[in-house]
Amino acid sequence: MSAVVQTRRVTVPQIRAHKGAEPIVCLTCYHAHTARLLDTHVDLMLVGDSLGMVMHGLETTVGVTLDMMITHGKAVMRGSSHALVTIDMPFGSYEESPQAAFRNAARVMQETGCTAVKMEGGTRMAETIRYLTQRGIPVMGHIGLTPQSVNVMGGFKTTGRTVAEWPAILADAKAVSDAGAFAVVLEGMAEPLAAHITQEIAIPTIGIGASSACDGQVLVMEDMLGLNPNPPKFVRQYAQLGPAIEAAVEAYAKDVRERRFPGVENVYPMKKAQ
Ligand code: KIV
Repeated sequence: MSAVVQTRRVTVPQIRAHKGAEPIVCLTCYHAHTARLLDTHVDLMLVGDSLGMVMHGLETTVGVTLDMMITHGKAVMRGSSHALVTIDMPFGSYEESPQAAFRNAARVMQETGCTAVKMEGGTRMAETIRYLTQRGIPVMGHIGLTPQSVNVMGGFKTTGRTVAEWPAILADAKAVSDAGAFAVVLEGMAEPLAAHITQEIAIPTIGIGASSACDGQVLVMEDMLGLNPNPPKFVRQYAQLGPAIEAAVEAYAKDVRERRFPGVENVYPMKKAQ
């Protein structure tokens, strides 16, 4: 009998098949416990480089390294067995050349066991997306607001709010799709443009701060759980875990200080002398 445990994860063709059909459910995930909780409820888990801000307290994603992505990617893979796991290529790991991107993406896949990688950029990344997909690496695109370019943009700004911006963003979407990406994230994009792109391209669009007409949605899990005191305006919060954690810690601190901390006598009773 084989010692290898077979898992049946959602596949890239299954994600592609969501185009124009049932919306893709996607959340970010950075560690094993939450991966286990999300696993059967989502189609796709994204180990996003937003982990730099959420897990490591960085101000932007620019400081995130390949090693950080691999460490969190391994944890998410260990905690899950159903959802397709995609890992973000961090700033500096893929822009230089298709060859460098291939080397680093292959390392991410080999060391974590994930199915796919995501990279930011439209037309400028098309050659790289084609190079990787032709060599066995499924790529998810990411256009509109691309946080790794924060220093060029001078902040995080919603895109496509003037019609003059539309042709370039639509060209980005088409370039990513034509290059072979299996899906594309539309982030921080005016609603009608995101809806229009969804109509125009052959691959599923996954929106964040974009349009409910997209073929799927992604949120940063900590934002929707109420763990971020300043979430983006478009985020709907489905729980208030931040205040719940604070209340629990306050109650624990009170118990400890008042020596009401439960003893372990019932759990590990003294053994009788032999
Ligand atoms: O890094 C991330 O979490 C992302 C999503 C916001 C799409 O790229």
